[in-house]
Amino acid sequence: TRPLGNEVLTKSASGLSDRNFPRAFRAALRPLPTLAPYEVSWDEGVRVERYAVSARVGTAQILPNLPTPVIGYNGMVPGPTISVERGTRVHLRVRNKLYGVQHPEGLEHSHESGLVLSTHLHGHASLPEFDGYADDRTIPGFCKDYVYENDQPARTIWYHDHATHLTTRNVYSGLAAQYHIRDEVERALLPQGEYDVPLTLSDIMFEADGRARFDDKDHSGLWGDVILVNGQPWPVMNVKRRVYRFRLLNGSISRSYRPYLSTGDAVHMVGTDGGLMPTTQAVTTWRHAPAERYEFLVDFSRYAPGTQVRLMNSSNPKNVDFDHTNKIMAFQVTDDPVDTYDPTWRTIPTTLTGSDVMSLTPSQSVKTRYLQLKKSDVTNVWNINGTTWQDVIASGYTKVLADPALHAVEMWDLHTSSGGWFHPLHVHLVDFQIVSRNGRPPFAYERGPKDVAYVGPDEKVRVLMRFDRAGRYMVHCHNLPHEDHDMMGQFRVGLAAGAPDPHDPISAAK
Ligand code: C2O
Ligand code: CU
Repeated sequence: TRPLGNEVLTKSASGLSDRNFPRAFRAALRPLPTLAPYEVSWDEGVRVERYAVSARVGTAQILPNLPTPVIGYNGMVPGPTISVERGTRVHLRVRNKLYGVQHPEGLEHSHESGLVLSTHLHGHASLPEFDGYADDRTIPGFCKDYVYENDQPARTIWYHDHATHLTTRNVYSGLAAQYHIRDEVERALLPQGEYDVPLTLSDIMFEADGRARFDDKDHSGLWGDVILVNGQPWPVMNVKRRVYRFRLLNGSISRSYRPYLSTGDAVHMVGTDGGLMPTTQAVTTWRHAPAERYEFLVDFSRYAPGTQVRLMNSSNPKNVDFDHTNKIMAFQVTDDPVDTYDPTWRTIPTTLTGSDVMSLTPSQSVKTRYLQLKKSDVTNVWNINGTTWQDVIASGYTKVLADPALHAVEMWDLHTSSGGWFHPLHVHLVDFQIVSRNGRPPFAYERGPKDVAYVGPDEKVRVLMRFDRAGRYMVHCHNLPHEDHDMMGQFRVGLAAGAPDPHDPISAAK
């Protein structure tokens, strides 16, 4: 058993000694680092911002007494947040400085000189050649320039590594960061500045010497016994007695959470993966799968100074859990003065402006497709409709799961059918609307634009979307060991089979 605060732990995945095991609600929450553009210019009325990050090794101070080696964008974990105004064109240069760095597995997809990378940004941002296609490899010593138009409504998105068979290891090592698109609409409705707080959740387990321990349970999933928020174990944040906005990204490899406030009070859900929901939803708890983002407001004005409000977690993943993963972080209510002239200090807006995808109707759909998410009884490999990413590679990247016409609206039925597993399914390129879950309306908190759907055991989730860019994009489970082995396929928009693809996503690294 291990002491943790005044509690006794009985189960652990880490090899840490009691002395080095972190305690809950001690570390101060750290704000995510931010990245400034190195150059700003104008191109025919469009603001252009240039950013650069280097993927390289670094050191994180997570445990009080031991350093943890990491791989991060600019060596930082979590990586630096990019925050841009809607309509700004971003050039993001990702440099690969990972010479001589190898993971113990996945070598067949690595390069002799070191790790290979591919960088994906969520949020239907990019042309196929800038989408982080898994085999669009950037090898050590090279870089790739990604171009994002950011012409979609404000939202909380994130960029992370996506290299074939290396994604789990690369992301677990730290290659992930938030990215925000801002606009007038959210500015008029929601808290800004210090009251707009991005939170990245992850989980980790440790070796005795402070290194991250890796165990994906034979490609089932990786569940750490230490919960990190912005890279700190179970941190505490001081809050004033007013409304705060939180942008919560689940950046975990496999762990799904079911967050709730220790007071039992509801949070006010205002945004999902693709930005603002049509209307605010008060929810006391929600399922939060890897890669999903939820934006919510919490009104701390109702608590007396000195109150500690905890964000707890009630979910237990299949087969594995640890005593202390039932907590996430704490908010310490202070008596610091509040600016009551700021209109957002106590306002919970009710009507938000949702994105276009929320006004699509099922009658606009020209095609219904079925995607079955399961494990092969024969090969024991995770797949979608029997297809794996290996099959896509073997086909010379021609094999597709779907081929929607350009601007077509389609309905996809996502179904998990094996053995109690859930799969958070991510569709690149689009925002989708969740139409139904097992024939019933979606949960209140998921009535907003999404790019990841939580498909629970034996659930059927029906999603509706429009395909507005031509080219090939990936679709996959976001439990990363499932994605790597090999629950990932692709779809092709607006191109006939065998037709030349002007946006071939496998471009030469430069
Ligand atoms: Cu978050 Cu295809 O990835
Ligand atoms: Cu999965």
